Amino acid sequence: MVYRMNEKIIDGKKVSAEIREKIKKFGDILIKESNRTPGLAVVLVGENPASRVYVKNKIEKTKEVGFNSIEHRLDENVSEEELLSVVNKLNDDDEVQGILVQLPLPKHINADLVLDTIKPVKDVDGFHAENVGKLWSGLNSLVPCTPLGCSILLKKLNPDLSGKNAVIIGRSNIVGKPMAALLLGMNATVTIAHSRTKNIEELVKSADILVAAVGIPEMVKGNWVKKGAVVIDVGINRIDRDGKKILVGDVDYDECIENSSKITPVPGGVGPMTIACLLLNTLFTSYEQFGVAPIKLSDIFE
Ligand code: GUN
Repeated sequence: MVYRMNEKIIDGKKVSAEIREKIKKFGDILIKESNRTPGLAVVLVGENPASRVYVKNKIEKTKEVGFNSIEHRLDENVSEEELLSVVNKLNDDDEVQGILVQLPLPKHINADLVLDTIKPVKDVDGFHAENVGKLWSGLNSLVPCTPLGCSILLKKLNPDLSGKNAVIIGRSNIVGKPMAALLLGMNATVTIAHSRTKNIEELVKSADILVAAVGIPEMVKGNWVKKGAVVIDVGINRIDRDGKKILVGDVDYDECIENSSKITPVPGGVGPMTIACLLLNTLFTSYEQFGVAPIKLSDIFE
């Protein structure tokens, strides 16, 4: 059976629109109280087509919530030194409260060095080692946008995952690892699977919560999903099907919806949540930098 409109679908587009509405509301209060406007700087190096689309969407949505968008587009061949100098200028710029360097970066640039050069208080991606350490220590930190978006969707379904098995496919610093830290914080029993994991299929069959962030189109098949599992699909893969270019996730949606109790579609699931969480992080860093009483996630969601 092919499901499209269904009570099983987690509507990330709708939830993200609600979050952006709240960000606009809290942002307007902040602007009024501080007489300053939050600024988000996005740095794009090169012409990676997917990165260009993501950055265009991020800039559009930044402006929609009433924040300033600062764009830096650098040539593919830019030197590491020049990129670091751009980041340092943004660190010192009072008009900039958040800095995002779009990944991946060209191979000749040390991405870890670039990310660790961003001031931790402006690190809206949550990729700086200081924020990563705080996240794993259970301290207040900036949290990477995609896993934060996934955790908000999961919390809406069930805030306490005590006794639940969560399986994450993918061990990236952007999604897999921070997702594991967040799920641990929600009391789930967490396993991270990756390309060297043996018998992934059997492992996935034990999952009450499955987060697929592996970058392989429709890798997870319907019979891998335990009955009643919640499936969060982080994949955004462009493939050719019947002569048309389409977007699919890392799970075979039409198959996996059958056994799942809830599932995110692609597009319209996790993708829009990532951008909403980027703006949420920018709101948090702006409250902190403008010296107005800081706000927390619970202020937004209660
Ligand atoms: N590339 C893919 N996802 C992300 C992200 O969340 N942040 C940045 N900076 N680059 C990415």
